[in-house]
Parts: sequence; structure tokens; C-alpha cells
Amino acid sequence: MGPIGIFDSGYGGLTILNEIRKLLPQYDYIYLGDNARTPYGTRSFEVVYQYTLECVEKLFSMGCRLVILACNTASAKALRTIQQKDLPRIDPRRRVLGVIRPTVEQLDQLTRSKHVGVLATPGTVQSESYPIEIHKINPAIEVSAVACPLWVPLIENNEHLSEGAAYFVQQNIGELMQADALIDTVILGCTHYPLLIPVIQKYLSPSVRIIAQGAIVAESLKDYLHRHPEMDQQCSKGNSCRYLTTESTEKFNSSATIFLSTEITAEHIDIL
Ligand code: DGL
Repeated sequence: MGPIGIFDSGYGGLTILNEIRKLLPQYDYIYLGDNARTPYGTRSFEVVYQYTLECVEKLFSMGCRLVILACNTASAKALRTIQQKDLPRIDPRRRVLGVIRPTVEQLDQLTRSKHVGVLATPGTVQSESYPIEIHKINPAIEVSAVACPLWVPLIENNEHLSEGAAYFVQQNIGELMQADALIDTVILGCTHYPLLIPVIQKYLSPSVRIIAQGAIVAESLKDYLHRHPEMDQQCSKGNSCRYLTTESTEKFNSSATIFLSTEITAEHIDIL
């Protein structure tokens, strides 16, 4: 038995961890933030894949049987290769799951106009993972995506409620709605973005639904563990969470309070 691993390039995955722990408090978790190498959103496919694989292997070496890539960029650029190429070699009984597929699964019931917007990092937008996954569910849905390269740094610097952040949010939302005025549903395709919801709401019409991933991913994990009792039995249940960072723990402890309502004590970890 081992903890469930939750991986992100930095802090964004904490928004997913929050929701998962609310819904499934009974499990043990290890959160790993690769803060020393963040951001992933502007990096190439090869680099994101390599970094993500190294972190997944680290979580496996710490006993995790199941790892969630709580990062859209990693899910977009590394998940499929890890599932198809690396897992059979490393250990075919272990599992790595991402956040993009669960986010779009209910989309067809949520959009009436069948025009959907995606706000994400440049890497996630370039990968086209959202349109690809959405079109597997309904090829008739129109998808427009806008990259928001400054949103992650603004959030990580605790500037997301500043006037500067409002300027960039307004600009990117304007770009999205100009691309397709019929959009009635907007996916926040980056795990950092829920922190910007109060600002995003100012610039989007109230009739447009905003989809944040945390609760959706949590429900999807619950469902997965229910459908896979053999995996559920391998996930230890001690109601605990360890926080690991590849950067300085002081910085992690203080920045994590932007994302979590409680104080935490992180541990430093070297990936290589
Ligand atoms: N939180 C990551 C995501 O969901 C992006 C952060 C980064 O660029 O590293 O895509």
C-alpha cells in the first residue's frame, strides 16, 4: 500500500489537492511541486515530458501506486507517452492519470451553444489537447483557446488581485470572446487559474459558465477508485498529506498559503 501522488510543476496543483482532500480525506497523499523547474507552461514538449517522468518516478520510488498529474501542461504534453511507453516498462500495475479528460467529460451537457472557450498556458494551448479531447466527446463543439502566459507568474507572486492582473485578465478574456462571441462555457485549463475567478468574473458575461477543475477531478478520482477496487486497496488510508518541493521549503511554505487555507511544513526533495 502507498499514498496517492499528486504532482504539479509548482503550486497550482494545490487547488486540485484541496478538492480531492475535501472529497476523499481518508487517503494518504504526497504532493510534489517541481518549483525549482517551474513554469512548465512555456517549455517544449520534450522538456515537460522529461521533467514529468522524473517526478512520477520519484513518487513511485516513495511508494505511490497511483499518481495524478494535477497540471494541465504535464497532462497535455507527458501523460499519454508515460501511460503508453513508460508505465509498461516501469510497472504495468501502477497508474498515472491526468486532469484534461475528466475536465471535459461532462462538457456536452454543460454547453448549450456548443461553443466553448479554453484559457490555459501557452504549452497546453499549443498541444491542442483540449480540442482533441473535447472532439472525442462531441466533434461538433467549437473550441477557441487563448494562452495566458502572465497569469501563472501573477498568481505565484501573489499579485492576482492587483490592478496589473486585472489588466491582463481583461485583455485575454477580450481576446477569447472576440474569437467567438457565442462561447457559453469557459474552461480554466490551468490549475492556478481558480485563484483568478473573482477577476475573471468581472470581465465575462454572467451568462458564461466558468469551469474550474478541482471538484471535477476529485469526483473523477472518487469514481475511478470505486471502479478499480484493486487500486483502491493499494492506496493507504491514514488521512495524511506530505508536501514535497524541489525548491526551498521556506518559499514553498509561505507561497502555499496563497493556495491553501492552512499553514504547511514542506520537505525538500531532489529529483535526480
Ligand atoms: N499549473 C500548471 C498547469 O495547470 C501550469 C503552471 C506552469 O506553467 O508550470 O498547466
